[in-house]
Amino acid sequence: MENHIEKIQKYLHNGRTEDMGNRIEKLRKYIDEILINMRDTEERRCGYLHLYGVSQACAMIALKRNQDVELATMVGMLHDLHSYKTMNTENHAEHGAVLARQILEELSLTTDNETDLICSAIRNHSSKATIHSAFDEVLKDADVLQHCLYNPLFPVMEHEKCRFQNLLNEFGILRTL
Ligand SMILES: [Fe+2]
Repeated sequence: MENHIEKIQKYLHNGRTEDMGNRIEKLRKYIDEILINMRDTEERRCGYLHLYGVSQACAMIALKRNQDVELATMVGMLHDLHSYKTMNTENHAEHGAVLARQILEELSLTTDNETDLICSAIRNHSSKATIHSAFDEVLKDADVLQHCLYNPLFPVMEHEKCRFQNLLNEFGILRTL
């Protein structure tokens, strides 16, 4: 008989049981293992919220811009993992790219080109004032979207206003910040 946790998991997976042939689920399992072992429960909560929040925002933006939605979902999950794993945000984009490459190679999840695409986006994601490739921009915008929508009643940070306003416009939301 299905136990309570299995029922919840099925509900969360939209009626599906875990599909381990799916690259996103393989990566999620690996990332969950790191997050669940974080000692600081508040930081752990932030890690889940931010990484999976950005991952979902990446998927939405990638769909809108006709970018690779699978890789976009994966880059969102990975992008700040190094910061949560080490609890150190110094030079986090570069360190994050190195860790992402290590994980993707260890799991043999991606081709060399896909790995480069993901790692480039992570390496560039802190440079929000610069425009990089279309795929890099998906991650930067998703990062901003998660910050701004975590609690829509909080004021939008000054340095994120421009990107957030552009996103609202892009999604047809007629609202001026
Ligand atoms: Fe982030």
